[in-house]
Amino acid sequence: MCGIVGYVGPRPSQDILLSGLARLEYRGYDSTGIAVISDDGELQMRKRAGKLQVLRDDLTAHGMPDGTTGIGHTRWATHGGPTDANAHPHLADHDRLAVIHNGIIENFAELKAELVAEGFTFRSETDTEVAAVLLGREFTASGDLVEAFRAVARRLEGAFTLLAMHRDQPGVVVGARRNSPLVIGLGEGENFLGSDVAAFVEHTRRALAIGHDQIVTITPGGVEVTDFDGAAVEAEPFEVHWDASAAEKGGWSSFMAKEVSEEPEAVANTVRGRVHDGQVVIPELEGLDDLFTGIRRIIVVACGTAAYAGQTGKYALEQWTRIPTDVELAHEFRYRDPVIGEDTLVVSISQSGETMDTLMAVKYAREQGAKTLSICNTQGATIPRESDAVVYTHAGPEVAVASTKAFVAQITALYLLGLHVARLRGSLDADAAAQAVAELEAVPEKIQLVLENEQQHIEQFSRWMADTQSVLFLGRHVGYPIALEGALKLKEISYIHAEGFAAGELKHGPIALVEPGQPVFVIVPSPRHSGELHKKVVSNIQEIRARGARVIVVAEEGDAAVLPFADEVLRIPLADPLFEPLLAVVPLHIFAMGLSTAKGLDVDKPRNLAKSVTVE
Ligand code: F6R
Repeated sequence: MCGIVGYVGPRPSQDILLSGLARLEYRGYDSTGIAVISDDGELQMRKRAGKLQVLRDDLTAHGMPDGTTGIGHTRWATHGGPTDANAHPHLADHDRLAVIHNGIIENFAELKAELVAEGFTFRSETDTEVAAVLLGREFTASGDLVEAFRAVARRLEGAFTLLAMHRDQPGVVVGARRNSPLVIGLGEGENFLGSDVAAFVEHTRRALAIGHDQIVTITPGGVEVTDFDGAAVEAEPFEVHWDASAAEKGGWSSFMAKEVSEEPEAVANTVRGRVHDGQVVIPELEGLDDLFTGIRRIIVVACGTAAYAGQTGKYALEQWTRIPTDVELAHEFRYRDPVIGEDTLVVSISQSGETMDTLMAVKYAREQGAKTLSICNTQGATIPRESDAVVYTHAGPEVAVASTKAFVAQITALYLLGLHVARLRGSLDADAAAQAVAELEAVPEKIQLVLENEQQHIEQFSRWMADTQSVLFLGRHVGYPIALEGALKLKEISYIHAEGFAAGELKHGPIALVEPGQPVFVIVPSPRHSGELHKKVVSNIQEIRARGARVIVVAEEGDAAVLPFADEVLRIPLADPLFEPLLAVVPLHIFAMGLSTAKGLDVDKPRNLAKSVTVE
């Protein structure tokens, strides 16, 4: 939700800013802009509605003097539509000051009224311009950008990362953060700021994470972090685990295609280093056994795909730990006065680690005395910093807006957590635990088989379905959240109406939607483990088939019972039931991608969405 990059150093900054924005474009692509202090000491700015390419074309056509201090922004519109005027940077102080912003300034209307009363004028509808004008006013008073920033930051309510530079202070970029992301990249004689490390990873993998309500000043030779009152604060150093090539498309047609192909690796890397002598021991949780003592309840909080990962993980967590586990949409959680306390472990799941809804749920849980653990894919992100413990998923950078490899990594991390806690509590016998570990370790190879065996087949029938208006997904037990995930992915990137249902719910309403030709995906549970459940799902297939549905089943190899009723059969390798979702979701990811491609859409950047949702 808006991407931010800042640079100071010896190099011309335009290319650095533009390539940083290219890596951050997943955060929003309504408009982009950059500003630099040019070598002749002037503030230069160019911004355009539309994707980054529009700005690039403009700069190629019309040029702009370069300079070694710069800031850049890619926008996901909140206040004011996606126009040139509303694009960032916003200028103030007679166009000598440039400001970019990620977040929402909640008290912008009252601040704007105050500034209008003083005679200031505005050129956009954004809350950001209010911060810019306010900063300009404070700079005029103090003549110092950092001091002006402190004064402004103290007055702002809501969530923000703000970056600013002033023509009169070249070689300085100042940032402030409250509840929105900002990380620092440490170079040699140059420094960077970014919404995440992707903004600068091609230049440096040394980074610093800063906390909330802090201000950072970067110059070519140094970094200074303080709180909003000016007291010095220690930032937390970390090393980025991946390099720039991991966040590049390579030869793939889209980031999503690349990321789906990386699903086996995402699972394998998440398991790596966490199994010792056949048992799960998560090194990051060593010394934190207290976190799990006295726990009588687990609540998983997350949004979207991450919430479906939670719903999938619930079955394993309960089965292995015997701790009652609920899964809640993070944005619903704290508004219903939930019964939580010291005996509750709140597990948040977030790929970005910045989702505001999830962050607020974690903060709320802590305030209520609950213990908090985060499952996250992004180093230096806010949610892990706000939690008592973190288990990182090692899926690598996920650039496509629709989450795929992070989803399988999230389920993997939940399973590891379940086995770790079960070992501590002695709630799972040793053989069953060893069997679960072996199943988990076998998943990457099995996903690889699904990719190899089914990709072409799925892409082919998704091309035939390019005119489809609506698709239904049915599943049961762990297949149910997979049906929800299949439907979300499809609607998100192909703009086709899609719904996921628990198969047992069909007769309670949704079957009314089935008419001749209606495509329905059915995730069929293995007949080897639960003959009864399998039979029921096969009966559901017959019911929809009798009403003319076009049935596409996802079933394990050798399941012949589905053959007479299926128009298409997508095979997954044999696995224990709890591990089937990690395989069954793969064909659904490929299908969503295939249909989106067949419709000629931008698979990686679906309309109206952004990858990191940092507003509530
Ligand atoms: C769907 C998708 C979203 C995210 C959700 C949470 O493909 O990507 O539903 O899963 O916005 O994002 P994170 O995991 O970053 O908290």
